[in-house]
Amino acid sequence: MRSLIDISDLSRKEIDEMISVAEDIAENPAKYSEKCKGKKIATLFFEPSTRTRLSFEAAMYELGGNVLSVPGEALSSAAKGESVADTVKVISAYADIIAMRSPKEGAAFVAANSADVPVINAGDGGHCHPTQTLADLFTIYREKGGFDNLTVGFCGDLKYGRTVHSLITALSRYKNVKIVLISPEELKLPNYMKMGVIEKTGMQYEETGDLEKALPELDVLYMTRVQRERFSDEKEYERLKDAYILTEEKMKAAKKDACVLHPLPRVNEISVKIDGDKRACYFKQVKNGKYMRMALILKLLGEAENPVKEDLLYGLEIIRSASKCENPRCISQTEQELESLFKVVDKSANVCRCVYCEKRKRT
Ligand code: CP
Repeated sequence: MRSLIDISDLSRKEIDEMISVAEDIAENPAKYSEKCKGKKIATLFFEPSTRTRLSFEAAMYELGGNVLSVPGEALSSAAKGESVADTVKVISAYADIIAMRSPKEGAAFVAANSADVPVINAGDGGHCHPTQTLADLFTIYREKGGFDNLTVGFCGDLKYGRTVHSLITALSRYKNVKIVLISPEELKLPNYMKMGVIEKTGMQYEETGDLEKALPELDVLYMTRVQRERFSDEKEYERLKDAYILTEEKMKAAKKDACVLHPLPRVNEISVKIDGDKRACYFKQVKNGKYMRMALILKLLGEAENPVKEDLLYGLEIIRSASKCENPRCISQTEQELESLFKVVDKSANVCRCVYCEKRKRT
């Protein structure tokens, strides 16, 4: 039995297979309309969401299954202090699969460790959002025919944008993909992504603050919202929120067959005047997300027929530490019963990462 916490939990082969299934679902929906008859998904969302929650629910209904929905943290027993581990253990008694979103980084890892059914990470703080990445990949595949040799620009909040981190990780597995990181200095891609993914895989990249200069070479432009909810200083958010606004004028410099993506919601970073441009693919991305989530539900429920639970720490060198992870948003900060566990990532440099949120730490 498997869960999906991070996009790296899926091999490139598995993603390619899921793209084929999603394509078939989009073309032959009737063939899939009873595949999950008698099955239930629980959607447990402790942070706001429109697309992800509703697309999981639509996905399960279109597969012939049913939905149990928790209407936010405040109306669940989490508000009385129930831990994530206990919450999902309880939900496992009612549902066959769980899709969950939490502001706590590492919550999906903890949930997958405790639940008796597959858990899908639908976003854990600023850490990961793997099913958005599945939507992004399927859209790029449909628009560009594949991933090899593409130049992909990421623009906006590359620091807190969890969808950016997951998509870069996924693209790093394809051949000759170049990424252009476009952001203000304060919102640059974190070092753990640069060192742990880009430099480790030898992916080509450049960093710039200049969207207009970067635009002409991009096959795909991935715009992002500045993540207000992750800022501790509102003034800093106000200063940075309008750093990049994609306008019709700027689009004149983009390739004729470029593809503009955005995980949405958008605030003002893409002018609505671009929505009618054939290169604007962000609403197609929404629909593609539903097909990929259908493919994912089918895959994980299929694998759940084998009840052996994956050991999430298998093959890792683990350090049990007396000191907590330093990330204030890490789930280990609030769920007191969790052990402080770190995985060794570079023994010679004494570097390890928190197993829950992956924050780097020197031993
Ligand atoms: N892209 C995305 O995660 O949207 P929601 O927050 O609406 O789910």
